[in-house]
Amino acid sequence: MTININEFSKRRYQLMAEMVEGVAIVPTSPELIRNRDSHYPFRFDSYFYYLSGFKEPESVLFLIAGPQAKTILFCRDKDMEREIWDGFRYGPAGAVIEFGIDEAYSMSQLDELAPQLLANQSKLFYSLGADAAWDARVTGWINQLRTQARTGIGAPDSITDVRKLLDEMRLYKSDSELAVMRRSANIAAAAHQRAMQFTRPEMMEYEIEAEFLHEFYRHGAQAPAYTSIVAGGASACTLHYNANNAKLRDGDLLLIDAGCELDGYASDITRTFPVNGKFSAPQKDLYELVLASQAAAISKVAPNNHWNEPHEAALDVLVRGFIDLGLCKGSHDEVLEKGSYRQFYMHRTGHWLGLDVHDAGEYKDQVGEWRKLEPGMTLTVEPGCYVRPADNVPEHFWNIGIRIEDDVLVTSADCEVLTSAALKSVDDIESLMKR
Ligand code: GLY
Ligand code: MN
Ligand code: MN
Repeated sequence: MTININEFSKRRYQLMAEMVEGVAIVPTSPELIRNRDSHYPFRFDSYFYYLSGFKEPESVLFLIAGPQAKTILFCRDKDMEREIWDGFRYGPAGAVIEFGIDEAYSMSQLDELAPQLLANQSKLFYSLGADAAWDARVTGWINQLRTQARTGIGAPDSITDVRKLLDEMRLYKSDSELAVMRRSANIAAAAHQRAMQFTRPEMMEYEIEAEFLHEFYRHGAQAPAYTSIVAGGASACTLHYNANNAKLRDGDLLLIDAGCELDGYASDITRTFPVNGKFSAPQKDLYELVLASQAAAISKVAPNNHWNEPHEAALDVLVRGFIDLGLCKGSHDEVLEKGSYRQFYMHRTGHWLGLDVHDAGEYKDQVGEWRKLEPGMTLTVEPGCYVRPADNVPEHFWNIGIRIEDDVLVTSADCEVLTSAALKSVDDIESLMKR
């Protein structure tokens, strides 16, 4: 474990302090069947992992707030037969020792003990609606308590979404989380560099995807953080393209949006480069524009700027460029007001990043204003430009799709680009790909 168990414990006590009273129930993810008796690779629930560091399936946390605050974990029993087939399990006793949990019990005792843990607690903190099977189970415990009302036993009478409290906590990364995120970013940056070095005309997109997986796994990342996008030529204009099965053509660009997950933490990088190693003039025009818009956006990632300032800065540069290059008609203000730039730039410029690639955390404050950026927050900055063939578009730009995406930490002075090892200037890309 790269994050110390004391940090997980500290998070649990912080959550219980914010709850003041009541019980929080935080289950991990279910195991999902892929086909017949094969499962998808198990990925723990991010909230559960954030509070426990525990990666086994079939487990749930109960956090009891109040003067006698404590955490109880239910997990799988030790089971020699199952461990021979599926591997090591901590078991409740092992979990207490290795994860610093106050008490742990077998999952087989959950339905018996949960109503006792909920009895006479006024508040329940639980993510109702996130998982139907857990909803049914939790509702069952509450109904069981309600039938005991005449014996004087009370059931929680309010349910608060525990994610509301955890989202705020997860938004501010600790030094040890940032250490993991920097490593995740460096692995992904190395993979992008490797892709640039391997790419040749006539290769298949999946061959380049394979280079990513090679680089991710050989550095210890456990998985891609999301389905990699390896999009040659016109496919780059399909924002979520992931077929990754076409031949790369001489003269086209290749857009790759790929990042890895390391010890739970995502990196998320996009680079766009020429398949043959040299940008054409129209490709370079659009590429330099997107790069300039990204630089403008990154310069706005600083404490006290609000969430939308990087997006506004990117948009400002893109709109000017779209007008200069003949993609948009009208004045800067008209293009912004009418939204005609959306023909070429239809997404926003970033999102929070952390345990989830689109990480937890609100983007607006309680009065509906964009929230202020603060040190410790991590986000992506990912402007782009996607030109589909159309009568109103100069033909030399048709089918060019470009996105440039980096991961950025808000620092006390301004920001740190976590993915700066991934080359992106025209000169750097062309000299790396020189052949
Ligand atoms: N790769 C997901 C995203 O860029 O948001
Ligand atoms: Mn992203
Ligand atoms: Mn991305």
